[in-house]
Amino acid sequence: MLEFVQVTEAAALAAARLMGRGDGEAVDRVAVEAMRGALAQLPIRGRVVIGEGERDEAPMLYIGEEVGAGTGYPVDMAVDPVEGTTLVARGQPNAISVIAASERGGILHAPDVYMEKLIVGPAAAGRVDLRWPTARNLSTIASSLRRSVQDITVVILDRPRHAGLIEQVREAGARIRLISDGDVSAAIAAALSGTGVHAVMGIGGAPEGVLAAAALRCLGGEIQGRFWFRNDEERERVRGMGVDDPDRVFLTEDLVPGREVVFSCTGITDGDLFKGVLFFAGGQRTHTLVMGARCGEIRFVDSVHVADRGRVGPIRLF
Ligand code: FBP
Repeated sequence: MLEFVQVTEAAALAAARLMGRGDGEAVDRVAVEAMRGALAQLPIRGRVVIGEGERDEAPMLYIGEEVGAGTGYPVDMAVDPVEGTTLVARGQPNAISVIAASERGGILHAPDVYMEKLIVGPAAAGRVDLRWPTARNLSTIASSLRRSVQDITVVILDRPRHAGLIEQVREAGARIRLISDGDVSAAIAAALSGTGVHAVMGIGGAPEGVLAAAALRCLGGEIQGRFWFRNDEERERVRGMGVDDPDRVFLTEDLVPGREVVFSCTGITDGDLFKGVLFFAGGQRTHTLVMGARCGEIRFVDSVHVADRGRVGPIRLF
């Protein structure tokens, strides 16, 4: 499990160098290269099931690509070397590098279409339903947490498509945090206590929904997701990936059914979960959350990467 820390660390270290330069493509490119290089060191026969896209549009970490050293355990992987590319390009908070791995068949093959999501922490898991009206879900989340709806904060991507949802949440009386990007990090925040986030609602990327499901398999909590198609071609693509009923609601275990699930994410920019990459003379420091669903381990890893021993002063305790 811990070997995956180095994979997201590598991508985060590469991406963070380019923070604020306004060049999202370069951020993605260097992070993809770094993640692929780090994966090549792992003794696995990895296969990307959620990645940077189809082969013709993504030169690396494309869906179906074989990754890893090519010996050892066969694993399926969902990768997002930079979750929140624009956040890094603009130097804004909550960009992370993410990977999830499971045994073969343990992660749903979902193409890059949209997904309507309802994400809650452990207290409300199993008690909400994406098909219910928003107000009913909010009051269920509130009662699960023994609070009133007014004391609930919902994270929603700031998009015109969410005008109706935002209105419904406001009418129900809950608080809202609108984010410009990065709903995986918001999903993790909803599953942890003390983050001030109690739910994530609305339409985001389906690949990010699967990554969130992997995190929630490890942390407890729940995601319910339903593909949100912009046209019939998208619906057929989902069918083509082996999904019989593309309009159904997927639960956490449908998105990530694997028995063994490992999830790792490293902060690129500072965020609600942890700090981003910190640069100092002669080295960097990274913060990672790595977890395993089967073993139940949840670790926050604080790593110091010394590049030039001669230039590094004493390492700060925290
Ligand atoms: P990237 O990492 O590809 O930039 O995606 C960021 C993100 O905000 C996701 O967190 C979210 O699920 C998705 O994009 C929303 O898509 P859109 O920007 O098209 O609304």
